[in-house]
Amino acid sequence: MSLTTFSFPTPILFGPGALSELPARCRRFGITRPLVVTDRGLLPSAAFHALAKTLGEAARDRDWFVYSGVHPNPIEQDVREAAASYGANHCDSVIAIGGGSALDAGKATRLLLKRPELDFSKFYDESDWSGLAPFIAIPTTAGTGSEVGRSSVITLDANHRKAVLFHPELLAKVVILDPELTVGLPPKLTAATGADSLTHCIESYTCPVFHPMCDGIALEGIRLVVEALPRAFRDGADLDARGKMLCAAAMGAVAFQKDLGVVHSLAHPLSTICGLHHGLANALCLVAAMKFCATRKPGIYRRVGEACGLDLFRVSDSEADDQTIAFMTRFLAGLGLNTRLHEHGVNALQLDALVAQAFDDPCHKTNVVAVTADDLRNLYLEVL
Ligand SMILES: [Fe+2]
Repeated sequence: MSLTTFSFPTPILFGPGALSELPARCRRFGITRPLVVTDRGLLPSAAFHALAKTLGEAARDRDWFVYSGVHPNPIEQDVREAAASYGANHCDSVIAIGGGSALDAGKATRLLLKRPELDFSKFYDESDWSGLAPFIAIPTTAGTGSEVGRSSVITLDANHRKAVLFHPELLAKVVILDPELTVGLPPKLTAATGADSLTHCIESYTCPVFHPMCDGIALEGIRLVVEALPRAFRDGADLDARGKMLCAAAMGAVAFQKDLGVVHSLAHPLSTICGLHHGLANALCLVAAMKFCATRKPGIYRRVGEACGLDLFRVSDSEADDQTIAFMTRFLAGLGLNTRLHEHGVNALQLDALVAQAFDDPCHKTNVVAVTADDLRNLYLEVL
């Protein structure tokens, strides 16, 4: 498999071994003292060793530093510490490597470097944010697609709520999608992160915002997940499947600039209140939410089903939805994602808090059909 480059709009360098291009990209951007932002769990991984070797080999005229304190859900302190490390080491750029958390922390660090007085809870995108530190994103999971996103989610010190920092200047100068860096991801995490990508594609495609380009990307993302995720789950070293999942993750994130839907509103509180992995939370709610949407807008999943490989040409709208939902139920079960919330420690006493946070969450406002607080409660009960 050879390396390929494409832009939408971020330049993406894709293929096994793509990491080896990093030194050349650093030279092109004048990067001589990058700060590598990551989480502690990644330090012993083969992916991090590969990065260290690549940067080390290129270090004749450069040096590099590491901040590895990023939490699984990044907090303000992570960003402040990373910015302090950047300043103390006289760095000139940020390279983030890891899952969505490391990438989000890396992006936010650049904002804080430009405005040390930045209040994360009051981030306005109309200000001038040009001239941020150059940023290279290297994902080691195929899920959030944060590497191609223009936002960064940071948990606030003051109220422990998540702030979404959004600005086009947050986009990376280049994204390196190297399937070799994801082969070490265990099957459970491969499935959960992949389910996040799948949910991004399904929710962004069905979201009623007009964006036909995103619709096309979302449908192809679904096709790639359906083809590649079971293979990556069964054989983590399948580089073709790993590569397709990295593409699908990036495509899901590009597509959800349209916005998302009720599944993400259900999933977010399951992480903040109950500690569930984001992708797992999406997977456990997806089928129930699809049934909810299909009964109110028949036919909404016809093209999703076709992207899954189903022949739905001659069937009615409701039959197309039923077949698509049945497929998705089998697909998730094949990945071990057919458990119920109570098997992950969620209990009925948490229901009020879950519903309140889910209703506050903005994602369901762009769901294909309107959602009430009672609907959210019923959906939680269905999967509890
Ligand atoms: Fe997500």
